[in-house]
Amino acid sequence: MNPVLDALHFRHACKRFDPQRRIPDDQLREILECARLSPSSFGMEPWRFLVLRDAALRERLRPACWNQAQITDSSDVIAILTRSESLVADGDYAHASYARRGLPSDKMRASLERYGNYLDSEVRPLMSLYAWASKQCYIALANIMTAAAAVGIDSCPIEGFEKSAVERVLGLPDGDFQVAVLVALGYRAGGQTPRFRHAFDEVVAFR
Ligand SMILES: Cc1cc2nc3c(=O)[nH]c(=O)nc-3n(C[C@H](O)[C@H](O)[C@H](O)COP(=O)(O)O)c2cc1C
Repeated sequence: MNPVLDALHFRHACKRFDPQRRIPDDQLREILECARLSPSSFGMEPWRFLVLRDAALRERLRPACWNQAQITDSSDVIAILTRSESLVADGDYAHASYARRGLPSDKMRASLERYGNYLDSEVRPLMSLYAWASKQCYIALANIMTAAAAVGIDSCPIEGFEKSAVERVLGLPDGDFQVAVLVALGYRAGGQTPRFRHAFDEVVAFR
């Protein structure tokens, strides 16, 4: 059997964490390494992973997150931050992202132009750069949860928050980095909640 299936059967959105148990540092770092290795559109890696460990900070964060207990009772909360307007094709960040590939200048220009055209024709008409970059961040989110589950660590993805209040608590007012999503990590206290999924044939089609 595909070993990832085991992890995905173990994973659930953990509502009750054991507040006494901490994730060993080396395991947390490996989970973050799985996040760092995530793919992203055009290789832009639009993320930052802010690990929230400080108890007082998390107490202040909790009311901004619908007062969810996972914020204070988990071992660690990772705030996945996303770039937004700094992703523009004529900006320093996009330039540096391509420059590290060591492309000759004509190829570099062509790549940036293709990237800019994509943003203009496919992204901007549909969504903000924040929304586009957040989609990449959710790939990292999935990798974090699966990597955690593979070593018996529970998680809860958290989108139930008031974005501007979270950013105020984290000290990110009006900056380019904005919060995309949070994920709490730790160890379950009690059993797993029931899982509801549509049947395979309802959601999978072959053509
Ligand atoms: C992006 C995202 C945001 C979520 N936000 C929350 C949240 O704020 N609080 C919560 O308890 N669960 C949250 N969930 C968990 C979902 O409710 C849960 O994944 C879904 O009901 C399926 O259950 P399972 O993950 O246990 O299989 C979120 C899930 C995702 C993917």
